Amino acid sequence: MFIAVEGIDGSGKSTTIAELEKFLVARGYTVHRTAEPTKLDTGRAIRELLGLKSERPYTRHELALLFAADRLRHLEEEVEPMLAAGKTVLTDRYLFSSLAYQSADLPYEWVRELNRFARLPDVVVYIGVGVDTALSRIARFRQNAEIFETRGFLEKLTATYERVLAEYADRVTVARLNGEVAMDGIAADIEKRLSGIFPKS
Ligand code: ADP
Ligand code: TYD
Repeated sequence: MFIAVEGIDGSGKSTTIAELEKFLVARGYTVHRTAEPTKLDTGRAIRELLGLKSERPYTRHELALLFAADRLRHLEEEVEPMLAAGKTVLTDRYLFSSLAYQSADLPYEWVRELNRFARLPDVVVYIGVGVDTALSRIARFRQNAEIFETRGFLEKLTATYERVLAEYADRVTVARLNGEVAMDGIAADIEKRLSGIFPKS
């Protein structure tokens, strides 16, 4: 099974994925955990660009192409072989991140076309969180917010994510988690909402 976890910055994605992995392992799944941008050359190039503080040394088109290139390499070199070996692949961000983030300032159809060869995940776990909560976490835990972390952008992103989830609802299983719960409530929220989707194997 191929599972992608999605959500806006500050949704508690990293924390939630750690709990999700424990949940899946306890239910008998052999999990391979991964993320986009990847640790491959393509992903490293993206992180380097995003980390540069000065004037953006790239165009939004270039960034969209890089995310798509990184994704296709991720699939070929890591995701597909792991799935073929019978593993459950759990990725921190995937296709829907590009559809939501890159379409904020580029035509949606073009972003989707770039990603045409990226297979759909079987399940998308979407962490829903209010923009206020996300911003307060970002302010509390980070020195300097990345380019994607302003109120206006996070609001737009939330709306786009909802549109994408609705568009793919007939082809992908969408599981929603409540990103507003406190850290010690995440495991229980996963148990409550995901047990029906991931039977004990
Ligand atoms: P993301 O990967 O979505 O940016 P993280 O999991 O890194 O989010 O969380 C950002 C910060 O918010 C972390 O420092 C974490 O300690 C805190 N945090 C995450 N989830 C929660 C939660 N449910 N309640 C309170 N704080 C949280
Ligand atoms: P990431 O390191 O996962 O950041 P975070 O832990 O804050 O979620 O991702 C870096 C940024 O890249 C994040 O703001 C989301 C963005 N992104 C895209 O814009 N498009 C994509 O396709 C992906 C995978 C990530």
